[in-house]
Amino acid sequence: MITLEHVSKTFTSHGRTVPAVDDISLEVGEGELHVLIGPSGSGKTTTMRMINRLETLTTGRILIDGRDIQTLNVVELRRGIGYVIQQGGLFPHFTVADNVAIVPRLLGWPRQKRRQRAEELLALVGLPPEQFADRYPRELSGGQQQRVGVARALAVDPPIVLMDEPFGAVDPITRKQLQRELRRIQEEVRKTIVFVTHDIAEAFLLGDRIVLMAEGRIVQNGAPSDLLRNPADPFVTAFIGEDRGLRALQFTSLGDVAQPVPPGVPPGGMVLPGTLSILDAGRELGIHGDAIGEGIWVGDDVGNPTGYLTYQQFAAVLGETLAADAEAPHDETAHAIHL
Ligand SMILES: Nc1ncnc2c1ncn2[C@@H]1O[C@H](COP(=O)(O)OP(=O)(O)OP(=O)(O)O)[C@@H](O)[C@H]1O
Ligand SMILES: [Mg+2]
Repeated sequence: MITLEHVSKTFTSHGRTVPAVDDISLEVGEGELHVLIGPSGSGKTTTMRMINRLETLTTGRILIDGRDIQTLNVVELRRGIGYVIQQGGLFPHFTVADNVAIVPRLLGWPRQKRRQRAEELLALVGLPPEQFADRYPRELSGGQQQRVGVARALAVDPPIVLMDEPFGAVDPITRKQLQRELRRIQEEVRKTIVFVTHDIAEAFLLGDRIVLMAEGRIVQNGAPSDLLRNPADPFVTAFIGEDRGLRALQFTSLGDVAQPVPPGVPPGGMVLPGTLSILDAGRELGIHGDAIGEGIWVGDDVGNPTGYLTYQQFAAVLGETLAADAEAPHDETAHAIHL
């Protein structure tokens, strides 16, 4: 849905050229949430702003649904892209409902329809409209303002949403709550989302894929379990930090490691869902250890077996993960996990 081909961006300031983004290529599939993460100044915001043409590219191409964005009308392009910025960016003299309905108003929607849409979206983001629609932004907490920002980005139902550190300015507890809400909303609305964060835990929680950037380049682009199990280089390991082993167990699912069912395995025994993390599977086995026999059946959502792991294979996955972790310096996570 969104394709970046060899995209670069250099800024010129005070006669010096600054390479902000350096030859990045990237593909974000429809309905996926990709997280851009990396140190300050690594080019995350610039990358995002090139997608909605708030910045022009120096070289390369960006395509949306196969069409070069340079050839599209910029107003129409942006109508199809919701944008959530840090601090909410709400208009202080507009009510919450009017803030949400800004783009619908620009598009000339009748008042009634705008109001209805705003109320629907406020409900979606967990702000009961009868309580919040007519307040002003200053009468809301930081977390509530962020939710209004998310509602506003969704107002005209754009297929794409760009979120630049949307939860950066709130306390950790509110942040957790907003992350969970975003997951729920995403299950409901399935947008194609590019999400920028500094927070590695947030990246693992939300990302279908994680794109780790440094100095304008992509260091690694993979599923969370890829980054954890096969980090491209020491920078990735260092960036992920000391919890790598624990995270690897959390973000690798049984489905990721299940094998085809070998012939001759008698049916019966435990079936665990493929979506279960290795960590949770380990806990299950700890609780129901007597029932496992030779191995674990891995099933789909409704419990039909689709794969298999012998107990030995399961132990090997655990062992590899923890061994990879032991190579990382100062890591005690491995010892802290009791299965
Ligand atoms: N308008 C500009 N003029 C000159 N240099 C710029 C401009 N915007 C960004 N840069 C530079 O481009 C580089 C990348 O900036 P960018 O804002 O994309 O980083 P970032 O990864 O979003 O960082 P942060 O995590 O701090 O938000 C930085 O070195 C920055 O100083
Ligand atoms: Mg930024």
